[in-house]
Amino acid sequence: MSTSTPAASAAPSTAADPRTFVPATLGLGDARLHPWSLKDLDCPTLLDGLFAAAADPQIALWNPAPTADLEAATKWIEIRANAWSAGTIAAFALLDGDTDSVGSDADDTAPTFLGALTVRWTDRSDGLGMIGYWLLPASRGRGLATRATLAATDWAFRTAGVRRLELAHAVENEASCRVAQRCGFPAEGTLRASYRFGDGQYHDEHLHARLATDPSLAPAQAPATPTA
Ligand SMILES: CC(C)(COP(=O)(O)OP(=O)(O)OC[C@H]1O[C@@H](n2cnc3c(N)ncnc32)[C@H](O)[C@@H]1OP(=O)(O)O)[C@@H](O)C(=O)NCCC(=O)NCCS
Repeated sequence: MSTSTPAASAAPSTAADPRTFVPATLGLGDARLHPWSLKDLDCPTLLDGLFAAAADPQIALWNPAPTADLEAATKWIEIRANAWSAGTIAAFALLDGDTDSVGSDADDTAPTFLGALTVRWTDRSDGLGMIGYWLLPASRGRGLATRATLAATDWAFRTAGVRRLELAHAVENEASCRVAQRCGFPAEGTLRASYRFGDGQYHDEHLHARLATDPSLAPAQAPATPTA
């Protein structure tokens, strides 16, 4: 499902709307979820990471990122930064290090770009959202997607009034299925030929979901968070 490609437009928010995503940096110990902002357009490592994402076959298949050149990557960041301004889509870059200083005048250390994660409304008035993610190849296989999904899920439930968060992946995408299970999103069923992926083919998807009222994960289920 198109979980990491939010539309540019969405219902306008008001300050009084409790179902608004308010930009926040979510620390993961050795990494952080950084809300995309227009300042990121000046960060070469983020742009290079987006070019690399567009060239990766797994991302191209399951989460096509139209970010192959500067013009496309600029537009991609602008859509996400502006969605934060409207409070309608929570789009994060996954970066190394626990302190968010992208765009800060005090910091000239370029962060390493690891991946991306998005929470977006599918029915805002009903508190229904969808989460999606992708990681660059070098960042995979060390529990990052799991930790990022756990942190973003908790944040969305606590701060934005998300009632139910869905996660859908092609049935062939075993890694994403494991992330969902590890994060306490049980499988609810199979959606037949529900989404056309990067290969141009419609694939069946597993639908997983987590409710704000679900019990916390047992410590043994959730991966340990490394210290920075
Ligand atoms: C799916 C993806 C985000 C997983 O990221 P990750 O950080 O490597 O995942 P984690 O390290 O948190 O691993 C989570 C689980 O998946 C398993 N896993 C990882 N890669 C796997 C693979 N290729 N096949 C099967 N299982 C895999 C891990 O072993 C782990 O399971 P465990 O907890 O039982 O040990 C990453 O592989 C990716 O970006 N893929 C390309 C884009 C994509 O598929 N996006 C999701 C679309 S829905």
